[in-house]
Amino acid sequence: MTQPTLHTRRLTLVPLVDEHLELEVELDSDPEVMRYLTGRALTRAEAERAHHRRRAAARKVPGLGFWVGFAEDGFVGWWILQPPHGPDQPNIAGEADLGYRLLRCRWRCGYASEGAKELIRYGFSNLGLNRIFAQTMAANTASRATMAAAGLSFVRAFISAGTYEDAVFGAEQGEVEYDITQAKWQQRQATALENQQQASLDRCTDSTREKRPG
Ligand SMILES: CC(C)(COP(=O)(O)OP(=O)(O)OC[C@H]1O[C@@H](n2cnc3c(N)ncnc32)[C@H](O)[C@@H]1OP(=O)(O)O)[C@@H](O)C(=O)NCCC(=O)NCCS
Repeated sequence: MTQPTLHTRRLTLVPLVDEHLELEVELDSDPEVMRYLTGRALTRAEAERAHHRRRAAARKVPGLGFWVGFAEDGFVGWWILQPPHGPDQPNIAGEADLGYRLLRCRWRCGYASEGAKELIRYGFSNLGLNRIFAQTMAANTASRATMAAAGLSFVRAFISAGTYEDAVFGAEQGEVEYDITQAKWQQRQATALENQQQASLDRCTDSTREKRPG
């Protein structure tokens, strides 16, 4: 399965292609966006190398990869649902790593969690994944809050086995992992549907009562 274009209420999530490179350069050249990733803005050459790594990651497992998100008024950021990678992510089939990086002007508008929820739905419903996890620095409050808002729960705190070239703010606090399993996601979907059905039943009962004379 190739990566499809995905839609949410406000976002169109398009599989990453070479034409998106300038948008990635714009994103990665903001030091605030990169605060918990590299601790500094990337140079153009580094952003280009990152683009090629992202394109290569998308070729590993059919259906997984990077998506670039657009709202009605333009570029918002990117989201990933990619195969486990790196020293802190055991390569387990049926699992995927969730992530996001948004332009600073788009923060706190609900976009990151909106896109993340759609990738989670896609991962479980369309790809049949068993588990979706996300990792971030413990100090990255915004990323942790987004994981929780997207329905993931805290799994573990750990010290990364990776080595970093740059000193990143808060690195001494270590990393955290959050996840959601397919079973838990399905259970939540079923509960949400039941609540919806009960609410419309209640509305129906109320309006019947109102129509009765006396
Ligand atoms: C992390 C990031 C993607 C969040 O994007 P966002 O669009 O602002 O997130 P949302 O608006 O969807 O918010 C999701 C939840 O996180 C909360 N949140 C977002 N930023 C927060 C912050 N700085 N502090 C506390 N809570 C925050 C929101 O209130 C919301 O919670 P709620 O649903 O309970 O109200 C964004 O800050 C970003 O791009 N950061 C730089 C890149 C990065 O660090 N990526 C993660 C690397 S692992």
